[in-house]
Amino acid sequence: MSTRPILRLGRVKDVEQFLEHLESLGLTLPCDTEILHGAESPLLRNFVRDGISIGNRIAVQPMEGWDSTPDGKPSERTVRRWRRFGQSGAKLIWGGEAVAVSHEGRANPNQLVMASHTRKSLGELRKVLVEEHRKTTGSEGGLFIGLQLTHSGRFCRPNANDRPEPRILFHHPILDRRFGLPNDYPILSDAEIVVIIEQFHRAAKMAWELGFDFVDIKHCHGYLGHEFLGAYTRAGNYGGGFENRTRFLREVLTGSRENAPGLRIAVRLSAFDTIPYRPDPKQSTERKLGAGVPEEHDKLIPYRWGFGLNPNDPTQPDLTETIQFLGLLEKLEIRLVNVTAGSPYYNPHIQRPAFYPPSDGYQPPEDPLVGVAKQMSATRQLKRLFPNVIFVGSAYSYLQDFLPHVAQAAVREGWVDLVGLGRMVLTYPEILWEATHGKAIQHKRVCRTFSDCTTAPRKGLPSGCYPLDEYYKISELGERLKAAKAQR
Ligand SMILES: Cc1cc2nc3c(=O)[nH]c(=O)nc-3n(C[C@H](O)[C@H](O)[C@H](O)COP(=O)(O)O)c2cc1C
Ligand code: SF4
Repeated sequence: MSTRPILRLGRVKDVEQFLEHLESLGLTLPCDTEILHGAESPLLRNFVRDGISIGNRIAVQPMEGWDSTPDGKPSERTVRRWRRFGQSGAKLIWGGEAVAVSHEGRANPNQLVMASHTRKSLGELRKVLVEEHRKTTGSEGGLFIGLQLTHSGRFCRPNANDRPEPRILFHHPILDRRFGLPNDYPILSDAEIVVIIEQFHRAAKMAWELGFDFVDIKHCHGYLGHEFLGAYTRAGNYGGGFENRTRFLREVLTGSRENAPGLRIAVRLSAFDTIPYRPDPKQSTERKLGAGVPEEHDKLIPYRWGFGLNPNDPTQPDLTETIQFLGLLEKLEIRLVNVTAGSPYYNPHIQRPAFYPPSDGYQPPEDPLVGVAKQMSATRQLKRLFPNVIFVGSAYSYLQDFLPHVAQAAVREGWVDLVGLGRMVLTYPEILWEATHGKAIQHKRVCRTFSDCTTAPRKGLPSGCYPLDEYYKISELGERLKAAKAQR
């Protein structure tokens, strides 16, 4: 780890200084010095391939909600968030948020659930988004909306925020210990997996009937789909070799296509990973978490409990099997892929680079721009190898005021087809719409990666950008977060 303090991007005065900073870090990122508008803008060009038509290159990433009703319907807060997704001007809505295929598969007791009793309200959510989108852009042409379908696997907490109810595929030498799972904790049986696959089929059919254009069979961030890909040590039909570890995807796909013939299937993938990180105990104090360091792993080599990492040095990515997986997606005619990395639970600096850690994280072990560059260059590498696949890139929010410059150049230079926005959408959904329409960036609304949108739900509060979104700043919720943080 470098001992140089991390430069706050909010203090970088212009794009030239930003470029100098990238150079000082030895990073090569595409970055334009001038933002183009209207017909000139690469970000406003439409994208048409294989019958998929998307009106511009801006995507909203899925962001799990912690504010549905206990039985999985959207609340007023959920509706507000989807309205803001519509206001972003993005023509690709990737999921809106992870929707659980069953109550047991929820990551939190306030996550949306796909079920017959929630069906009507989920359809309404889509309509609200379309309406808002039309108001912003003047048309709903080229709008492509999906739902991210999920089972949270190891990270299920369906009934109470403080009660994990993991559904695991194999025993993990580090994560089992971290989450207190005994050696005899039951693993999901092949028969139980078949039931979950059927839940995905039902959910896909419902999404299709509600008018969604696609569903994402989530394979990222340590949740169930992702855990299958790393199930090297599992016996039976769903573990061991590549064929078995990808059986879940193939079986979900077959039944979903039978049930919902017009529905597109997409995959969000953690393209690479690392061993879990923890705060360095030598640097941690009661008031401040230490910088992230990898968990001890000398006795775990070759490392066989993750996907897209080097088994001989699990602190490093390895895209060998990721490339094999992309080849499979192409063969299965899955055209839409969203590249992300790692997991918010065990290596958040890989998954969403941030200046400030969430309450259960650690100080950044490297300049967060390094994390941004890692995701961007992995996406570029995959795009070069699979030019016919439509790629959405992730982890742009840390770029802050320079997000439009990097996003425009990344699309213009073909690093990626669409730029996905995560945290930035919670605070300033219209950032790219405004930038591409000649408006100055509103600096006060730029996401500064405070991570309160993660910390608040971890403390049992609803989703949202507490520090910058007026809705939370002036509400009793903001006060509750302050109090919860003070108690740490
Ligand atoms: C509050 C929050 C919730 C998230 N929920 C999801 C989710 O449900 N599904 C998913 O694939 N990614 C989820 N993510 C990850 C984001 O989609 C995105 O990959 C990540 O934040 C990095 O992109 P960014 O730099 O634009 O924020 C979430 C991120 C945040 C901050
Ligand atoms: S709380 Fe707001 S500013 Fe902080 S990371 Fe989340 S969206 Fe960005």
